[in-house]
Amino acid sequence: MLTELDTIQTEALAAIRDVAEETALEAARVGFLGKKGRLTVAGAGMRDVPAERKKDVGQKLNEVRTAITSALEEKSAELIARRDAAAFASIDPTLPGRPLPQGGLHPLTLVLDEAVRILRRMGFALAEGPEIESEWHCFDALNTPADHPARNETDTFYFENGKLLRTHTSSVQIRTMEKEIPPVRIIAPGSAFRRDEIDATHLSAFHQLEGLYVDRGVSLADLKGTLEYFFREIFGSKTEVRFRPHFFPFTEPSFEVDLKLHAAGRAAKWIEIAGCGMVDPAVFTEVGAKRGDAAYDPDSVTGFAFGMGLDRLAMIMYGIPDLRLLIENELRFLEQFRG
Ligand code: PHE
Repeated sequence: MLTELDTIQTEALAAIRDVAEETALEAARVGFLGKKGRLTVAGAGMRDVPAERKKDVGQKLNEVRTAITSALEEKSAELIARRDAAAFASIDPTLPGRPLPQGGLHPLTLVLDEAVRILRRMGFALAEGPEIESEWHCFDALNTPADHPARNETDTFYFENGKLLRTHTSSVQIRTMEKEIPPVRIIAPGSAFRRDEIDATHLSAFHQLEGLYVDRGVSLADLKGTLEYFFREIFGSKTEVRFRPHFFPFTEPSFEVDLKLHAAGRAAKWIEIAGCGMVDPAVFTEVGAKRGDAAYDPDSVTGFAFGMGLDRLAMIMYGIPDLRLLIENELRFLEQFRG
């Protein structure tokens, strides 16, 4: 048996030495060490070895197994090293790497960041409210009667439970006044939703930036000054701003704000950018009733509010001709804003 084991070892080591690829090496392993492999079969012969020789033969068996196993391991390492070397042969590791495509901020985010930066410097703090709103926060508390066209099913997305997708960020005015006492000076950027036909200047999900300032003695002059300063900061000191009398249920008086645009090669044109006004005392009364205190007593506080379209702001800032570009995620468009 000892001679047989020697023979197996010699043959195994020779076979392994000659192997040139990984599948052949595996075949050799199975051929010698597998369940029906030669060494395994020979090992089964231990049964017939007389008791006094079992120790020697057993030891030999182990030596042979160890020798074969380490030969297999060595060869395997050698084959892997050779495969790696072949794979790397076609690569020049001294070449500079290929640059990874770099992400950038969406134009809306850029405009929003700039707007928030300017308004925070003026003392406005960020506030937020839910996009799924109650009718009370979106309309009733904002002095909007039940028969107002904005509340129509054809203008507003309603849920079956009576809630709705907020049609403007003005609901955050109410949310803020419910929680906080004057003075409040907040801005609330966010999404708003209307059942508008989507076209170059309308989206059904769009973005607004709401502002609210309530304190003793806040005046229309404060409102005008704030918005004029804001638009000149964002679009340049020569920007012309116009306040056009308008109507909103929750402000009195109310205005629409227009900016004069000087697009290259075209006659200058006014474009509507925001709604604003002095908070209607009826809103303070409604909030006061909900709060159950006199913090917003319309005889002692006044306020102004504004809401501007962020998508429009981006359009003007970057000369974007069609709002739909903002939601199409077309890379050729977005890549132009990479900082
Ligand atoms: N919520 C109004 C709109 O969406 C804008 C607005 C906000 C007007 C605040 C006045 C005061 O058109």
